[in-house]
Amino acid sequence: MKNFENKAQLSTYISSLKDNGTSIGFVPTMGALHHGHLALVNQGLGENDIVVVSIFVNPTQFDNKEDLVKYPRTLDADMALLKTISHDRIIVYAPTDKDIYGDNIQSQSFTFDGLEHEMEGAFRPGHFDGVGTIIKRLFEIVTPDTAYFGEKDFQQLQIIRKLVELHHLPVKIVGCPIHRADDGLAMSSRNARLTPKHREAAPVIYKTLQTAKEKFGTKSATKVTEWVIEQFKNEPLLELEYFLIADVKTLKPVKRKSSDSYREKKAYRAFIAVYAGDIRLIDNIALN
Ligand code: PAF
Repeated sequence: MKNFENKAQLSTYISSLKDNGTSIGFVPTMGALHHGHLALVNQGLGENDIVVVSIFVNPTQFDNKEDLVKYPRTLDADMALLKTISHDRIIVYAPTDKDIYGDNIQSQSFTFDGLEHEMEGAFRPGHFDGVGTIIKRLFEIVTPDTAYFGEKDFQQLQIIRKLVELHHLPVKIVGCPIHRADDGLAMSSRNARLTPKHREAAPVIYKTLQTAKEKFGTKSATKVTEWVIEQFKNEPLLELEYFLIADVKTLKPVKRKSSDSYREKKAYRAFIAVYAGDIRLIDNIALN
């Protein structure tokens, strides 16, 4: 499996592939790979000749320094896992901070038609500037035909779609379904840092989303939100940061369904962020 640390060498190699008509899929990651990532890579391999997987813990998207320091870094295990899928059709790009940022580890500032102010944007200041900066840079280096992102970070996915639209980037964005453990917990690199008792408590997050979805059939978003807040009062190991129901296009919270959401083609999702000890977990579910 080819592994690059240097962007110039990677770009030269990719342009030689593209000259021969090779199609390039791209899965950007921060490493600590799990089955959710592998599903993205597999989808990419099904639709492209080659898949580039970047493994880079991007410092500019962390609003919390401690989270950045403690973020799992498991490059050897990640490479071994990727090799179980393909030896010759995956290229890994695992750069240093310097290769990406030079001597200036700073994000650019972006606007994404207001999507950046909701949810994660409100609770993690600067996060989406960091995501926009790294994704734009990686797209310039990798020049993929198609890039794959998980729906677990649904707001990130919508923001990257907006980045591509606003900056006219020549890449197709594909969103892929959330992968879950057998007990429903959404797969995340952060799960590895949960203590056993927090790991045991965490499936309540998805169970609550499922019941919220059922309740949204007959109740307003406001009522469903009140119900969710009450549920988490009974969970001593989990602290609810936010729960809300939002329009999938604007990501703006709604109080109730539009009376004619079918004709207006409105789709809603419920979004949740919860602290399990000092680990922050997010999840979401489509409601219609
Ligand atoms: O979702 C992630 O792992 C990161 O936000 C991403 C897209 C790789 C950018 O650093």
